Amino acid sequence: MTTIRVDLGPGSYDVLIGPVEAGLERIRDLAGGATPILISEPKLFALHGQAIAERLGSEPILLPEGEAAKDWAVLHRLLSEFAERNATRSTPIVALGGGSVGDVAGLAASLFKRGCPIIHLPTTLLAQADSAIGGKTAIDAFGEKNLVGTFHQPALVVVDPAFLDTLDERQLRSGYAEVVKYGLIDDPAFFAWCEINGLGVLAGHRDLRQQAIETAIRSKARIVASDVEDRTGRRALLNLGHSFGHAIEAEAGLGAVLHGEAVALGIALAFRFSSELKICPAADTERVISHLAKSGLPTRLADVGLAKAGGRLVEWMRRDKKSSQSRVALVLARGIGKAFLETAVDAERLAAFLDRAA
Ligand SMILES: NC(=O)c1ccc[n+]([C@@H]2O[C@H](COP(=O)([O-])OP(=O)(O)OC[C@H]3O[C@@H](n4cnc5c(N)ncnc54)[C@H](O)[C@@H]3O)[C@@H](O)[C@H]2O)c1
Ligand SMILES: [Zn+2]
Repeated sequence: MTTIRVDLGPGSYDVLIGPVEAGLERIRDLAGGATPILISEPKLFALHGQAIAERLGSEPILLPEGEAAKDWAVLHRLLSEFAERNATRSTPIVALGGGSVGDVAGLAASLFKRGCPIIHLPTTLLAQADSAIGGKTAIDAFGEKNLVGTFHQPALVVVDPAFLDTLDERQLRSGYAEVVKYGLIDDPAFFAWCEINGLGVLAGHRDLRQQAIETAIRSKARIVASDVEDRTGRRALLNLGHSFGHAIEAEAGLGAVLHGEAVALGIALAFRFSSELKICPAADTERVISHLAKSGLPTRLADVGLAKAGGRLVEWMRRDKKSSQSRVALVLARGIGKAFLETAVDAERLAAFLDRAA
């Protein structure tokens, strides 16, 4: 079992990487006699949940699968179940699932009685390498991704890479986009490692998979610790590819393009735009696009059926939390491993770029 500490002062927590059984002991310790509330979804629960529920002595709450879980009605149902089960402020809420289960369970845990502990047992590559760490919770609302959410750091995260054995290839590739992101933000050596080993990670090679997940978690832990509530611009770097990505997800209709697919395409667009602004060498942009494409990820708007929708994406981007009508905040890159936050991208110039992008 590998332990990575996410160092946030009083809100610090451990990420355990290894067989889930060992992590369950820690959950029971944290519960201190209370019965944890297990949240999952039917497919996942059938694959991996039964033994965990038995060990925790918990009757599971099963949510709709995928993005559909990040919804007001589901949030309401969770809160009412917590009340019915007489949960207290120390009842651990345990989320077994991908980022969707984790995001809504985390939000419910943060709201109930002003906050119960949330423990993540992430089951997708995306959730293991990224979303289970960092404390962002959300549901989608009024047609917009992650519009309603909180910061609520987990009490513990248990990452068992063996869960990924049952994950389908498309989901695996989608999660891999978030892994590659860490190389592109500030770790060019890790990007070079991905170029050599990425296909092995996707093929399920155990050591490579473990190494990729650990590196991503260490990077996220380091970046989150330097800017816990996303205020200094440091944590914003984790949003490389995401301003474009969220717009792509919204324009395609929530759920049609997977989050990681939209992020991969968003990363490709961020590098292409950076090269067009002449701040990023074209050779770096080509390397990035070539690696994403070789990994089976979309790199052109046409790949996700949005060839002529580029101009409309900017409208979604203007709505972003940190943007205004004429200026858009965007993570750009001066090269591989040199991402930076540009808070004042000219919206007209961006719209012209996206109109041409296919
Ligand atoms: N909170 C954050 O910081 C953060 C970061 C990135 C993404 N997210 C959010 O995460 C969500 C996406 O999460 P995701 O990509 O993990 O997908 P997901 O949770 O939507 O799950 C995708 C599919 O994979 C299935 N699945 C999950 N684990 C499985 C397994 N081990 N075996 C077989 N099938 C399995 C699920 O049943 C579902 O059908 C998005 O809503 C995104 O906005 C949040
Ligand atoms: Zn993401």
